Amino acid sequence: MEGELLPTLVIGLIVMLLLGLAFNHFLPLLLNQEKVIPRGSFGWPLAGETLNFLSPHASTSLGSFLEDHISRYGKIFKTHLFCTPTIVSCDQELNHFILQNEEKLFQCSYPKPIHGILGKSSMLVVVGETHRRFRNLALTMVSTTRSRPGYLNDIETTVTRTFRSWKGKGRVNFCEEARKFTFSVIVKQVLGLSQDEPDTARILEDFLTFMKGLISFPLYVQGTPYAKAVKARGRISLTVKAVMEQRRRGNGVGCCSNKKGDFLDVLLSVSNLTEEEKVSFVLDLLLGGYETTSILMSMAVYFLAQSPLALEKIKSEHQNIRANMQKDDYLNLEDYKKMEFTQHVISEALRCGNIVKFVHRKALRDVRFKEHLIPSGWKVLPVLSAVHLNSSLHGGALQFNPWRWEGQNQATCKKFTPFGGGTRLCPGSELAKVETAIFLHHLVLNFRWRMDCEDLPMAYPYVEFPRGLPLQIDQIS
Ligand code: HEM
Repeated sequence: MEGELLPTLVIGLIVMLLLGLAFNHFLPLLLNQEKVIPRGSFGWPLAGETLNFLSPHASTSLGSFLEDHISRYGKIFKTHLFCTPTIVSCDQELNHFILQNEEKLFQCSYPKPIHGILGKSSMLVVVGETHRRFRNLALTMVSTTRSRPGYLNDIETTVTRTFRSWKGKGRVNFCEEARKFTFSVIVKQVLGLSQDEPDTARILEDFLTFMKGLISFPLYVQGTPYAKAVKARGRISLTVKAVMEQRRRGNGVGCCSNKKGDFLDVLLSVSNLTEEEKVSFVLDLLLGGYETTSILMSMAVYFLAQSPLALEKIKSEHQNIRANMQKDDYLNLEDYKKMEFTQHVISEALRCGNIVKFVHRKALRDVRFKEHLIPSGWKVLPVLSAVHLNSSLHGGALQFNPWRWEGQNQATCKKFTPFGGGTRLCPGSELAKVETAIFLHHLVLNFRWRMDCEDLPMAYPYVEFPRGLPLQIDQIS
């Protein structure tokens, strides 16, 4: 009996050991299998599905790549983009989860060529503590500019100058006009420079080169748009540095101080950023603040041209605001607050137009979301437009319908994220809306317009009107 017990014990121990090993090794795998990497396809070696993903389509639609993949794999799928395995999310809840978990589970991660062109200190490139410092400054910038007495007046003066230059014209290239306008506004807000100063013209010229490079193939060879853009960035940096230096000297100290208390003064007084970082920050604001806002204005004008009822309604809102004002009075904050329907038009233009289609993130560790596993290190792309164009979230999603925003609280609205979300939420959203509202105020009161030829907003995926939105305009006497 004793002779049988020993081998039985040994066998028992070995079985337990093996079971233990199996438990340790395989149970996590079994558990992981409950959370699986979303379905999808990696496409071609290296290139993956990048070309299909980037193929142009109307920004008011999902595009065939997303439509096809959603119908095959669902709203969350895997693919291979920008040389990296990627999870694409067209799902409202996952998008919200990603944006709200910045720096915890996910991190902003733009492709390397963008770093080359924006610079290593750009807000879209920096993470962690450095990003927090920039972010605080961006929020200070917003509150400083908003509380400056001339805030609305400066914008309105730029609007009226733009319209004065339209006098006698029967046709304008609207995108170009909007770009000039938003550029003048942001240069004034950030650097305190007016439209006629030589520095403004110089920065604008370099910016146009810069923008072309930002969307070009990233090949750093003499003469390519990418190389030209990197050089243009260098020149803009020099101009911005000179403007900062000039202000520093002008400010002086004590009784000679000439401080304006505007954003540039705040920036110069900050001690936790290097000179290079300050210049880079100014560039971020100029870049972030001008192209996107000009496209928003173009969207609003484009949709209003096709929606006579909305145009009638917005016009009567602005006529009512004007009814209590003298001809040359400037708009004040109270007037702005009365522009309720205008805000609905702006929101709807943002929802239908999808100026920023998606943002770039990566998973910092294995993330489990519902039945899905997002592996550590993978790229993660929350597609903002997919939520905006989802008819189960926005009834009749493909229709431009500003009335849908009546009574909705956008601040808590997860299904509307044109400005991103979480700790990377766009700091310029309010400025973009104010500029667009004041511009629309004068536009609807002074002009009738119709499109001169077919044009529509295209996602390349950066959004652009291929023909520049040519308009026939009539001044209302
Ligand atoms: C219609 C106009 C605009 C749209 C649609 C827009 C959209 C966005 C979006 C989606 C993001 C988030 C990017 C991400 O999460 O990776 C963002 C960030 C940013 N935007 Fe805007 N933006 C607009 C106007 C502006 C303006 C007027 C400014 C400057 C005054 C600005 C400056 C920035 C900056 C600096 C960031 C980076 C924020 C950070 O990383 O913390 N944007 N914008």
